Amino acid sequence: MFEPKIVAFLCTWCSYTGADLAGTSRSKYADNIRVIRVMCSGRIEPSFVFKALKEGADGVLICGCHPGDCHYQNGNVKTIRRYPLMKKMLAELGVEDARVQLSWVSASEGDRFAKIVNEFTEGVRKLGPFKIMAGTSG
Ligand code: FES
Repeated sequence: MFEPKIVAFLCTWCSYTGADLAGTSRSKYADNIRVIRVMCSGRIEPSFVFKALKEGADGVLICGCHPGDCHYQNGNVKTIRRYPLMKKMLAELGVEDARVQLSWVSASEGDRFAKIVNEFTEGVRKLGPFKIMAGTSG
């Protein structure tokens, strides 16, 4: 069975802590993710997502604090604004919608984190391996 490689950008304050809780609570989730811890989801530039896909990821998951809970006040508001623009660019490059996802996970939502990872991984698995975006090699 195809095992997708998934890069997960997690903000350290909520989502990374939620992921940690999932681990310590022994919530089962797919081990396909490779976590990149960032200070805030607002730090995740579209170029990070493009680079991950270009360098072999089959899917990219972005997780941050719930709206209103960002530890930098409005970092995730920037994420909310940026995300649809990034998805539009990805669509124009032929990247399927289900390969990139934004989700909110608080520090107390270990089970929610596990569910998001499992569902996202399954969605990417159904799509199959990611083929490099046209015009982006080199
Ligand atoms: S600190 Fe978590 S999204 Fe900003």
